[in-house]
Amino acid sequence: MSGIDGMEEPGGDRRAEKRGAVTLVGAGPGDPELLTLKAVKALQSADIILYDDLVSAGVLDFARQEAKRLLVGKKGYGPQVKQAEINALIVSLALQGKHVVRLKGGDPGIFGRAGEEIEACRAAGIPVRVVPGISAAQGAAASLCVSLTHRDHARRLQFVTGHSREGALPDDLDWGAMADPAASTVIYMARATLPGFRAHALAAGLDPATPAVAVLAATRPDEIRLAATIGTLPEKLADLPADRPVLVLLGHAFGALLEQAEPAADRRLSGTG
Ligand SMILES: C[S@@+](CC[C@H](N)C(=O)[O-])C[C@H]1O[C@@H](n2cnc3c(N)ncnc32)[C@H](O)[C@@H]1O
Repeated sequence: MSGIDGMEEPGGDRRAEKRGAVTLVGAGPGDPELLTLKAVKALQSADIILYDDLVSAGVLDFARQEAKRLLVGKKGYGPQVKQAEINALIVSLALQGKHVVRLKGGDPGIFGRAGEEIEACRAAGIPVRVVPGISAAQGAAASLCVSLTHRDHARRLQFVTGHSREGALPDDLDWGAMADPAASTVIYMARATLPGFRAHALAAGLDPATPAVAVLAATRPDEIRLAATIGTLPEKLADLPADRPVLVLLGHAFGALLEQAEPAADRRLSGTG
């Protein structure tokens, strides 16, 4: 298989082999069929793949058999390999002449610390490329069969993190923007801090009846979808399995999902795990 555009194959040009290269690849939200062709191409030309815990096994199956695989993240909020160590590892492997694929869940450029890794490669003079992936927000919206924007309900789309560097709710979120009734807001890493998010957003004027949908393990076989309002979602979310990544979609663009939800106590959407 040919290499990434402009990137030499391992075993090809000797000079390029010595130099090595790094490709940051988006693994998508979970379903391996959501990988791009370019991502598969990169996986098939990798010497070593450094992957995050959110990358599903089915995605790694697309990698060249001989490629080494190294997990560099841990689940949930547990201890992680330090980012500085990952940067150093990427650089040192590439300097050994390897094609390093840094495989990240979703899109590498969305809450994925891609910027720090790109910077480390550039500082070391290593050629670096990015292969985008489908972010969890897009995967979740597709699973829900909703549009993230809507001409009548959402003129603006914002992705925010519920998780600061220290693990708390970030203290610099723009709460006026979070309370905007004409926005769709997707909250990544929201599970632990959603009650705090609700308190701040309601204080900034957000209507507690605003539709809020949690999607756990979007696009995976163990996906769970739960439709509620921002007033009630944090408590309902606390009852759901804690072993899966969670995304919260907030805004009136998701109102139809509340109507579809079964009138059962937990208002899980039909067809969910
Ligand atoms: C470090 S961020 C990485 C985001 C990723 N780069 C992306 O574009 O989706 C990890 C968070 O993304 C969200 N996430 C990733 N995959 C998910 C999935 N399949 N279902 C739900 N949320 C997911 C969760 O909020 C999780 O805590």
